[in-house]
Amino acid sequence: MEQTFIMIKPDGVQRGLVGEIIGRFEKKGFTLKGLKLITVDRAFAERHYSDLSAKPFFNGLVEYIISGPVVAMVWEGKNVVTTGRKIIGATNPADSAPGTIRGDYAIDIGRNVIHGSDAVESARKEIALWFPEGIAEWRSSLHSWIY
Ligand code: PPS
Repeated sequence: MEQTFIMIKPDGVQRGLVGEIIGRFEKKGFTLKGLKLITVDRAFAERHYSDLSAKPFFNGLVEYIISGPVVAMVWEGKNVVTTGRKIIGATNPADSAPGTIRGDYAIDIGRNVIHGSDAVESARKEIALWFPEGIAEWRSSLHSWIY
C-alpha cells in the first residue's frame, strides 16, 4: 500500500493547526502510520531539502524548518502521494485553491504550513530519513475498503 511523508512545519504547529490538518487526512480516509513531534537540526534539514541546495531560498527554508518543532507523519492509502498533494494545495499559497490546506491557512510561500512528498520514490526516501526506527505495522480489521 502506498505511503507518503507529511510534515507540519513550525508555523503550522505554532498556529495550532495540527489537529485540523490530521483531521483532513483522516476524514479523507487515509491511515496514520507514523507520527512524532520533533525539532531537527540544521544538518538534518539540509539533508531533507538537499535537492534544493542550489536554490536562492535554500538557507531561508532551512532556517524556517529548524525554527521550532515540526510534526512528522507517515500516511497510507491508495494514491496517497498525489491525493495528499491535492489536499495540501499548490506550493505558493497565492496559487492554492480555497479548500486546500495552504489555500485556507497560508499566505507566504516561505511559511506554507506543510510539506508533502512529491513522488512515491521521494516518499520512500523521506520516510527512511525521518523514521529510521521504522513504522509499526497495523491495519484496520473492520473492512477491506478502509485503508
Ligand atoms: S522549485 O524551485 O520548483 O524546485 O521549488 P518548489 O518545488 O516550488 O518548492 C520546493 C520546496 O521549496 C519551498 N520553497 C520556498 N521556501 C521558501 N522561500 C521560497 N521562495 C520558496 N520557494 C519554494 C517550497 O515550499 C517547497 O518546500 P516543501 O516543504 O517541499 O513544500
